[in-house]
Amino acid sequence: MTFTPTSRISAFAQDVLDGLNRPVRQLSSKWFYDDRGTELFRQIMRCPEYYLTEAEACIYRQSVPQLIGALDGRPFDLIELGAGDGSKTQILIEEFLRVGLRFSYRPIDLSGSALAELGNLIKLRWPTLDFDPIQADYFEALNRLGTATGGRQRLLLFPGANIGNFSPAEAVAVLQRLYSFLSPDDLLLTGFDLKKDPSMVLAAYNDADGLTAAFNLNLLVRINRELGGNFELDCWRHWETYDPAEGAARSFLLPIEPQTVHLQALKRQFQFRAWEPIAVEISQKYNLREIEGMADAAGFSFQDHFTDDRLLFTNSLWRVPNP
Ligand code: AVJ
Repeated sequence: MTFTPTSRISAFAQDVLDGLNRPVRQLSSKWFYDDRGTELFRQIMRCPEYYLTEAEACIYRQSVPQLIGALDGRPFDLIELGAGDGSKTQILIEEFLRVGLRFSYRPIDLSGSALAELGNLIKLRWPTLDFDPIQADYFEALNRLGTATGGRQRLLLFPGANIGNFSPAEAVAVLQRLYSFLSPDDLLLTGFDLKKDPSMVLAAYNDADGLTAAFNLNLLVRINRELGGNFELDCWRHWETYDPAEGAARSFLLPIEPQTVHLQALKRQFQFRAWEPIAVEISQKYNLREIEGMADAAGFSFQDHFTDDRLLFTNSLWRVPNP
């Protein structure tokens, strides 16, 4: 059931309202990334249990030559979905410039401050690089870019296992939409986290320092601040599960005792029973064969998997077929 509030409310407020009214309550992890959440995520990327970041950086370092080999020699646009601090992409840029490729760098991110910081870095390191950021969500940015490329090839990066925040079915739909923005011979390089020892996955989303717990609980802090809520933070716990068959890591927030939560901005209150979960995040893991199937389902032709030595992560390279 969807409740329609009397006055106009923000997309965040609407999403919270819809999510908390579901039979199994749900809040989207896309709202994790306020300033505090972005900072906590940076700390997660540096913590020992969160293997994803280092694995992907390692793959970038090892696979640049193959990636360069897959480009067709035309000038190209390097477009990045969810650039964040762009530190891994600099590994690619450095090598692309070293071998004399002609390209522009167009990072897309929701965070203006992240893009500004990245811009400063790029200007310092490569003052003449054609740097043209877009502050928007993925699809709005791709809409702005349009399908006309003036004959330039596109290399679209979708790094960081961000695709994992969608269910497998949603992920295929997202990849189909990416396909619709691309032209024959354009390339898509997507970072997927791989199915592995479940204890390793659980540890990555339940680190000993409690960074992940703080990261997830920060969503309640954000709701309290932005929507006039009164979630009693001491009463909520982070809970992680991993289903090795499905490959789904799921995060929940659980109240240790019954609670009534008021949200002033929505003029609503919500009753929580003790231990009644709010589902907040899915981080989907795949195997290589499943990823190749997704390439196919989204219309791409699978090119290659670039994996790390421990097979923790893959950057999968797909091409838009040329009929
Ligand atoms: C940024 C979506 C890749 O799911 O692994 C990290 C976010 N959540 N720790 C992930 C996250 C908890 C991360 N992604």
